[in-house]
Amino acid sequence: MMMDVDKTFVMIKPDAVRRNLIGKIITRFEEAGFKLINLKLITLSRELASKHYAEHKGKPFYNDLLAFITSGPSIAMLLQGEDVIKKVRKIVGATNPEEAQSGTIRGDFKEIPLKSVTENLIHASDSESSAKREIYLFFENNLE
Ligand SMILES: Nc1ncnc2c1ncn2[C@@H]1O[C@H](COP(=O)(O)OP(=O)(O)OP(=O)(O)O)[C@@H](O)[C@H]1O
Ligand SMILES: [Mg+2]
Repeated sequence: MMMDVDKTFVMIKPDAVRRNLIGKIITRFEEAGFKLINLKLITLSRELASKHYAEHKGKPFYNDLLAFITSGPSIAMLLQGEDVIKKVRKIVGATNPEEAQSGTIRGDFKEIPLKSVTENLIHASDSESSAKREIYLFFENNLE
Protein backbone atom coordinates (compact mmCIF):
# COMPACT_ATOMS: atom_id res chain seq x y z
CA MET A 1 0.00 0.00 0.00
CA MET A 2 1.27 3.48 -0.85
CA MET A 3 1.63 5.79 2.12
CA ASP A 4 0.49 9.38 1.86
CA VAL A 5 3.14 12.02 1.44
CA ASP A 6 2.05 14.63 3.93
CA LYS A 7 3.21 17.94 5.27
CA THR A 8 3.27 19.02 8.88
CA PHE A 9 3.94 22.21 10.79
CA VAL A 10 6.65 22.18 13.44
CA MET A 11 7.84 25.06 15.60
CA ILE A 12 10.98 25.18 17.72
CA LYS A 13 9.79 27.20 20.71
CA PRO A 14 11.59 30.18 22.35
CA ASP A 15 13.14 28.07 25.16
CA ALA A 16 14.91 25.81 22.66
CA VAL A 17 16.06 28.79 20.56
CA ARG A 18 17.45 30.48 23.72
CA ARG A 19 19.29 27.27 24.63
CA ASN A 20 20.94 26.98 21.16
CA LEU A 21 19.16 23.74 20.31
CA ILE A 22 17.95 24.64 16.79
CA GLY A 23 20.57 22.59 14.95
CA LYS A 24 20.25 19.51 17.14
CA ILE A 25 16.47 19.50 16.80
CA ILE A 26 16.46 19.94 13.01
CA THR A 27 19.05 17.16 12.71
CA ARG A 28 16.59 14.70 14.25
CA PHE A 29 14.05 15.38 11.50
CA GLU A 30 16.65 15.25 8.73
CA GLU A 31 18.04 11.98 10.05
CA ALA A 32 14.52 10.53 10.14
CA GLY A 33 14.37 11.21 6.38
CA PHE A 34 11.97 14.16 6.33
CA LYS A 35 12.43 17.07 3.94
CA LEU A 36 12.55 20.59 5.32
CA ILE A 37 10.51 22.47 2.71
CA ASN A 38 10.11 25.85 4.42
CA LEU A 39 11.60 27.57 7.46
CA LYS A 40 11.56 30.97 9.11
CA LEU A 41 12.60 32.67 12.31
CA ILE A 42 9.62 34.45 13.80
CA THR A 43 8.67 36.13 17.08
CA LEU A 44 4.96 35.37 17.42
CA SER A 45 2.66 38.34 17.92
CA ARG A 46 -0.03 37.98 20.57
CA GLU A 47 -2.58 37.80 17.74
CA LEU A 48 -0.85 34.95 15.91
CA ALA A 49 -0.18 33.08 19.17
CA SER A 50 -3.82 33.29 20.24
CA LYS A 51 -4.96 31.98 16.85
CA HIS A 52 -2.42 29.16 16.94
CA TYR A 53 -3.43 28.08 20.46
CA ALA A 54 -7.15 28.98 20.21
CA GLU A 55 -8.17 25.48 21.37
CA HIS A 56 -6.56 26.18 24.77
CA LYS A 57 -8.27 29.50 25.48
CA GLY A 58 -9.70 29.49 29.02
CA LYS A 59 -7.45 26.71 30.33
CA PRO A 60 -5.41 27.43 33.48
CA PHE A 61 -2.10 27.46 31.58
CA TYR A 62 -3.32 29.63 28.67
CA ASN A 63 -1.93 33.01 29.81
CA ASP A 64 1.48 31.53 30.65
CA LEU A 65 1.50 29.72 27.33
CA LEU A 66 0.88 32.94 25.40
CA ALA A 67 3.46 34.88 27.41
CA PHE A 68 6.03 32.13 26.82
CA ILE A 69 5.39 31.56 23.12
CA THR A 70 5.67 35.30 22.36
CA SER A 71 8.76 35.77 24.60
CA GLY A 72 11.37 35.51 21.85
CA PRO A 73 12.07 34.07 18.43
CA SER A 74 10.79 30.66 17.37
CA ILE A 75 11.66 28.64 14.28
CA ALA A 76 8.60 27.80 12.17
CA MET A 77 9.02 25.03 9.64
CA LEU A 78 7.28 22.74 7.22
CA LEU A 79 8.34 19.11 6.99
CA GLN A 80 7.31 16.70 4.29
CA GLY A 81 7.39 12.93 4.05
CA GLU A 82 5.47 9.70 4.35
CA ASP A 83 3.18 9.70 7.35
CA VAL A 84 5.06 12.77 8.62
CA ILE A 85 2.34 14.07 10.99
CA LYS A 86 2.22 10.96 13.15
CA LYS A 87 5.95 10.22 12.94
CA VAL A 88 6.96 13.74 13.91
CA ARG A 89 4.65 13.64 16.96
CA LYS A 90 6.50 10.48 18.03
CA ILE A 91 9.90 12.11 17.53
CA VAL A 92 8.72 15.11 19.60
CA GLY A 93 7.47 13.04 22.57
CA ALA A 94 4.89 13.57 25.31
CA THR A 95 3.61 17.08 26.12
CA ASN A 96 4.97 16.95 29.67
CA PRO A 97 8.77 16.61 29.34
CA GLU A 98 8.76 14.69 32.64
CA GLU A 99 6.78 11.97 30.86
CA ALA A 100 8.60 12.17 27.53
CA GLN A 101 10.66 9.06 26.85
CA SER A 102 14.36 9.21 26.17
CA GLY A 103 15.02 9.19 22.45
CA THR A 104 12.36 11.87 21.95
CA ILE A 105 13.20 15.58 21.60
CA ARG A 106 11.27 16.57 24.72
CA GLY A 107 12.75 13.66 26.66
CA ASP A 108 16.36 14.25 25.63
CA PHE A 109 16.56 18.06 25.73
CA LYS A 110 14.36 18.86 28.73
CA GLU A 111 15.84 21.18 31.30
CA ILE A 112 16.69 19.56 34.62
CA PRO A 113 15.19 20.56 36.96
CA LEU A 114 12.14 21.10 34.79
CA LYS A 115 11.00 24.75 34.66
CA SER A 116 7.40 24.07 33.62
CA VAL A 117 5.27 21.93 31.33
CA THR A 118 4.78 25.01 29.18
CA GLU A 119 8.46 25.26 28.21
CA ASN A 120 8.60 22.01 26.27
CA LEU A 121 10.88 22.98 23.40
CA ILE A 122 8.77 22.25 20.36
CA HIS A 123 5.32 22.19 18.77
CA ALA A 124 4.07 19.76 16.11
CA SER A 125 0.66 19.51 14.44
CA ASP A 126 -1.44 16.73 15.94
CA SER A 127 -3.70 15.84 12.97
CA GLU A 128 -4.19 16.47 9.27
CA SER A 129 -6.72 19.20 9.97
CA SER A 130 -4.47 21.04 12.44
CA ALA A 131 -1.53 20.70 10.04
CA LYS A 132 -3.58 22.37 7.28
CA ARG A 133 -4.76 25.12 9.61
CA GLU A 134 -1.29 25.80 11.05
CA ILE A 135 0.48 25.75 7.67
CA TYR A 136 -2.00 28.37 6.48
CA LEU A 137 -1.58 30.44 9.64
CA PHE A 138 2.21 30.54 9.58
CA PHE A 139 3.11 30.38 5.91
CA GLU A 140 0.19 31.72 3.90
CA ASN A 141 -1.25 34.38 6.14
CA ASN A 142 0.67 37.51 7.15
CA LEU A 143 -0.17 38.06 10.77
CA GLU A 144 3.30 38.24 12.26
N1 LIG B 1 -0.87 21.21 31.99
C1 LIG B 1 -0.13 22.11 31.38
N2 LIG B 1 0.58 23.02 32.09
C2 LIG B 1 1.33 23.96 31.48
N3 LIG B 1 1.45 24.08 30.13
C3 LIG B 1 0.78 23.20 29.37
C4 LIG B 1 -0.05 22.17 29.95
N4 LIG B 1 -0.60 21.45 28.95
C5 LIG B 1 -0.14 21.99 27.82
N5 LIG B 1 0.69 23.04 28.05
C6 LIG B 1 1.38 23.88 27.06
O1 LIG B 1 0.49 24.12 25.98
C7 LIG B 1 0.99 23.53 24.78
C8 LIG B 1 -0.16 23.00 23.97
O2 LIG B 1 -0.74 21.90 24.65
P1 LIG B 1 -1.23 20.61 23.87
O3 LIG B 1 -2.17 19.91 24.75
O4 LIG B 1 -1.68 21.02 22.49
O5 LIG B 1 0.12 19.74 23.80
P2 LIG B 1 0.97 19.29 22.54
O6 LIG B 1 0.08 19.06 21.36
O7 LIG B 1 1.87 18.20 22.96
O8 LIG B 1 1.87 20.56 22.30
P3 LIG B 1 1.94 21.49 21.02
O9 LIG B 1 0.51 21.83 20.60
O10 LIG B 1 2.71 22.72 21.48
O11 LIG B 1 2.64 20.69 19.99
C9 LIG B 1 1.97 22.46 25.28
O12 LIG B 1 2.94 22.12 24.31
C10 LIG B 1 2.59 23.18 26.46
O13 LIG B 1 3.52 24.17 26.02
MG1 LIG C 1 -1.15 20.56 20.52
